[in-house]
Amino acid sequence: MHEPATPHLATTDPQVAELVSAEARRQFEKIRLIASENYVSTSVLEATGTVLTNKYSEGYAGKRYYEGQQVVDPLELLAIGRAKALFGVDHANVQPYSGSPANLAVYLAFAEPGDTIMGMALPAGGHLTHCWSVSATGKWFRSVQYGVRKDTGRIDLDEARDIALRERPKLIFCGGTAIPRTIDFPAFAEIAREAGALLVADIAHIAGLIAGGAHPSPVGHAPVITTTTHKTLRGPRGAMLLSDAEHAKPLDKAVFPGLQGGPHNHTTAAIAVALGEASTPAFQDYAHAIVANAKALAEALTERGYELVSGGTDNHLILVDLTNKGIAGKPAAKALDRAGIELNYNTVPFDPRKPFDPSGIRLGTPAITTRGLGVADMPKLAEWMDRAITAGDGGDEAALDTVAAEIRELLAGYPMPGWA
Ligand SMILES: Cc1ncc(COP(=O)(O)O)c(C=O)c1O
Repeated sequence: MHEPATPHLATTDPQVAELVSAEARRQFEKIRLIASENYVSTSVLEATGTVLTNKYSEGYAGKRYYEGQQVVDPLELLAIGRAKALFGVDHANVQPYSGSPANLAVYLAFAEPGDTIMGMALPAGGHLTHCWSVSATGKWFRSVQYGVRKDTGRIDLDEARDIALRERPKLIFCGGTAIPRTIDFPAFAEIAREAGALLVADIAHIAGLIAGGAHPSPVGHAPVITTTTHKTLRGPRGAMLLSDAEHAKPLDKAVFPGLQGGPHNHTTAAIAVALGEASTPAFQDYAHAIVANAKALAEALTERGYELVSGGTDNHLILVDLTNKGIAGKPAAKALDRAGIELNYNTVPFDPRKPFDPSGIRLGTPAITTRGLGVADMPKLAEWMDRAITAGDGGDEAALDTVAAEIRELLAGYPMPGWA
């Protein structure tokens, strides 16, 4: 049933083959609303599973510490060239293993342990690696954090400016992991300029939207940009650092030899493929469809009495505060999963509950848009969510089964890349 097939794995290690198969079926039968996930194309899957995984390539093209780079050098240069063209930047490094090490490379390149770093607080929507206390970044650097306004749920730029001018951070991170609204890169650039800080835009969540023209670009505002490649950008698990010419060398040195050894060449190949796909008109349509779906889903949930942080969305992501529904985020997420709708529980800004048992759920539309669901499907999805949350609250297992069956029936008509 697999495409590409895994006949060798099925023979040599049926235990693993069966688990891979089970995961494929799970992804096929679920409405996947985790905002940071997607379905990559079969071409990206193929590139990931190649002999490139056999090769060590410490260093950069033309300056490696191992021989035999006749193929890897042009491959990495191809990925770099595509990244530079797609995002319109002077420099790209495609070697970071994932988003967290990419962000760590920025600290290593431009700050010293103990320096003051400003990021968005985790409970407000920032990422751990933006100097949150439990992260290595929060332990090794002095953290100052901005949040969102209580009345609007949107980033508090006045607070960010006040903190920046008072604390004079070395770096300012903008971007995050649970931000449903457009990030005002010019405003952050102005704050960084006034405070004498280096602005770093972490576009992990919205890179695909930026590539597809559905979110403004930080290029020209943030000299340093970090991103994962596996969320809206729809590539393999990986990351990139993008920058102007001035900041290129320190970033490269920070990735290798500063933090990492050999790049994952099979991932580099798959990043190149994903960047090629993201350069097409079809991807522009995809990026806009993600946002249209999110807006339609936000509207349908609002009509059913759900309270959305900031009142809606501008991008791929919706944050729901379930307080008025009398159910916490975790039991709601578990009930939804039982009913065939996969998402994650999440803190909401000013959440009175604990992070492991918060008030909200976070959802996003990148994966369902790849699957082919459209705006017309969103009211039905909101209805399923509502039925599942109500059933979960009442312990009605039969109702959860019914929703899951209805979802399986719908999704049977929407093919999944990599699974036939
Ligand atoms: C904004 C942001 N930055 C960085 C990361 C870290 O990426 P990774 O999980 O690949 O380390 C994430 C992951 O969710 C993220 O949302």
